[in-house]
Amino acid sequence: MQETTQKTVNFPLIGTPAPAFVAQTTQGTINFPEDYKGKWAIIFSHPADFTPVCTTEFMTFASMAQEFKALNTELIGLSIDSIHSHLAWLHAIRGYSWNGIEKPEIQFPVIADLKMEVAEKYGMLQGESETSAVRAVFFIDPNGIIRTILYYPAVLGRNFEEIKRIVLGLQKADAEKVALPANWQPGKDVIVPPPGTCNAIKARMEEVKAEGYEMKDWFLTFKKDKK
Ligand code: BEZ
Repeated sequence: MQETTQKTVNFPLIGTPAPAFVAQTTQGTINFPEDYKGKWAIIFSHPADFTPVCTTEFMTFASMAQEFKALNTELIGLSIDSIHSHLAWLHAIRGYSWNGIEKPEIQFPVIADLKMEVAEKYGMLQGESETSAVRAVFFIDPNGIIRTILYYPAVLGRNFEEIKRIVLGLQKADAEKVALPANWQPGKDVIVPPPGTCNAIKARMEEVKAEGYEMKDWFLTFKKDKK
């Protein structure tokens, strides 16, 4: 019988500290999460430099970089390529225009993870390839805790509006102690946490009257977005 070797993949978990690393990037060495204290970080991997889908993704991220900065959110890219490959690819991207994005400059750091050390810590090497990362996205809060994880296959470019919505949603949930319903968008109604005791249900009823909340049931109450 043929023997198969099972590779163990280390998957970081939502709600746990993001794995620490020191890495060489296109913007110099970074020490994570030390260098990112007090900021949100998005660590994202791409399968390879000089590939078409990845190029459209980098152009899109570059076009939104200021929007993420305004949300106190730093971007960190990663692939299993060398610094020289990254630099040559980013230079090439500087010459492209696509989808209304004109000759973008990539100013965020891109990790050269040739030894796959970061990719292995973050579960970025999965079943598609042993030597190139999937399209992973890690949302890490200012305390260094992983708050959301997305994994996409190589053939499917990411939805960057969703990536921004996730940052906005996590920041809103933290700031206002609310939850966000399906397909929530900024400005739409939010959910107030369900009461946990009989007295809290009574108090909620009063709150509903006083604040104009929309109560569907004792556990499902919406309130208008705070402007
Ligand atoms: C791409 O970015 O186009 C790509 C990368 C790796 C495999 C397939 C597509």
